[in-house]
Amino acid sequence: MTMELYCRAATLVFFTLLSFSYASSSSMYSELNPIKPRHSRLLRSAVQRETPTSQLSEIWTPLENQGWKPCDESRNKPTLPEKSEGYIQVFLDGGLNQQRMGICDAVAVAKILNATLVIPYLELNPVWRDSSSFMDIFDVDHFIDVLKDDISIVKELPEEYSWSTREYYALAIRDTRIKAAPVHASANWYLENVLPVLQSYGIAAISPFSHRLTFDNVPMDIQHLRCKVNFQALVFVPHIRTLGDALISRLRNPQPSNEEMSSNYLQEVTSSDDNKNAGKFVVLHLRFDKDMAAHSACDFGGGKAEKLALAKYRQVIWQGRVLNSQFTDEELRSQGRCPMTPEEVGLLLAAMGFDNSTHLYLASHKVYGGGARISTLRQLFPLMEDKKTLASSFERAQIKGKASLLAALDYYISVHSDIFISASPGNMHNALVGHRTYLNLKTIRPNMALMGQLFLNKTMEWSEFEHAVVEGHENRQGQLRLRKPKQSIYTYPAPDCMCQA
Ligand SMILES: *[C@@H]1O[C@H](CO)[C@@H](O)[C@H](O)[C@H]1NC(C)=O
Ligand SMILES: *[C@@H]1O[C@H](CO)[C@@H](O)[C@H](O)[C@H]1NC(C)=O
Ligand SMILES: *[C@@H]1O[C@H](CO)[C@@H](O)[C@H](O)[C@H]1NC(C)=O
Repeated sequence: MTMELYCRAATLVFFTLLSFSYASSSSMYSELNPIKPRHSRLLRSAVQRETPTSQLSEIWTPLENQGWKPCDESRNKPTLPEKSEGYIQVFLDGGLNQQRMGICDAVAVAKILNATLVIPYLELNPVWRDSSSFMDIFDVDHFIDVLKDDISIVKELPEEYSWSTREYYALAIRDTRIKAAPVHASANWYLENVLPVLQSYGIAAISPFSHRLTFDNVPMDIQHLRCKVNFQALVFVPHIRTLGDALISRLRNPQPSNEEMSSNYLQEVTSSDDNKNAGKFVVLHLRFDKDMAAHSACDFGGGKAEKLALAKYRQVIWQGRVLNSQFTDEELRSQGRCPMTPEEVGLLLAAMGFDNSTHLYLASHKVYGGGARISTLRQLFPLMEDKKTLASSFERAQIKGKASLLAALDYYISVHSDIFISASPGNMHNALVGHRTYLNLKTIRPNMALMGQLFLNKTMEWSEFEHAVVEGHENRQGQLRLRKPKQSIYTYPAPDCMCQA
């Protein structure tokens, strides 16, 4: 799609979204209707669960050393090219995590070409609608400084190239625009197709650029550089890190409630010190928004009204083109292709041995169905927090309505949690699996097909469910897996980004 078309399509989606939310507010179906638990039998047992202490301490035990660690960067000294071949510009679409991978690949492509990288331009996402720029999200000076011996980076094009803007490329076909980069293009593709443009014009603008550099047969120093960008050069702006640290500290040192404060505050504090898991927390990434629900074509238990509302929404957003809709809900579930609802992921966590004293941080944007859908989860984990409950209104004002900054804050807290779990596979899940593997931190990867099958069985007892869940997740808690061909180095950082200790 040309950028112009993309632009128009984005605007169209934007307006349909607007008119749709307007129309839906007046329709009969309300997303805020109470939603009955779908697995009420399991839920009843889960609420009354008593977790054996042994299981509890095991689940919180950090990962052992697995023999891999981040590579020692001082081994091979990077070298700056003697002269720059020109400027590389990229325009990145997608959400924050997709853009993050695009930034890493852009650095790699600039290095392959001996070019100077212009700080990537982040497109306005039609769903998230956040106009934050690279510099609003990432610490740009840190970025340039960490990579200063590898490649040259400029914040802005020099005057003579200032014509090369996003608007310029949106208006007509331009010689300096590279728009045919194939998905997972090789390093050679860039040398053959982009280097000549750089040499003729001194600049090349690549768009689209998501997933446009292969993970296989790339020189080792380029792979290392991609890792260095992802795990070292890209850090969030100071105010996101500061706020993240504040929220993490509140999760680790919860303030006693007023009643506890007045009666036995000291006793509370001392007794919680005895608990080995005191101060630890789990991040649950819950991407369960309306788009996701509509896109998956699964049934989420809201009855006929919900089904109709989702079908209508699907029609508006994708003109009904949902690949999965040829399958029944049951088929999709047993193949593990339905995102877990808050209730379902709560049952998974309870079965794995997290008790009701677990501090759970909910990393999520909007939850489809709102508080009603969350209430079941809260029944299982009463000590559940999120950005809203932990941050003051003053703190929240700085990031309010900015989807990318909210996602950045969740990412930061997720990287620093003791345990991370995501209720559905996706970009955020993959990015964090990768980042936490790099840091050897525990990450639970739900076995979606197993969970789908277990939830389809309406006669299963809690003990059987618990047993099946524990067994099905023994090897899905952060055990390091080496990258296979075609897989992303950002999800599987070993062996490309890591060295054997
Ligand atoms: C946790 O569960 C136990 C046992 O079922 C119960 O006594 C206790 O009140 C629960 N705690 C919270 C915070 O709900
Ligand atoms: C980039 O620079 C290095 C060293 O200066 C050189 O060996 C290499 O051939 C250059 N590559 C391109 C594409 O210009
Ligand atoms: C449900 O689970 C029970 C206990 O594991 C098993 O005996 C039964 O066959 C399962 N039912 C279905 C339909 O899979």
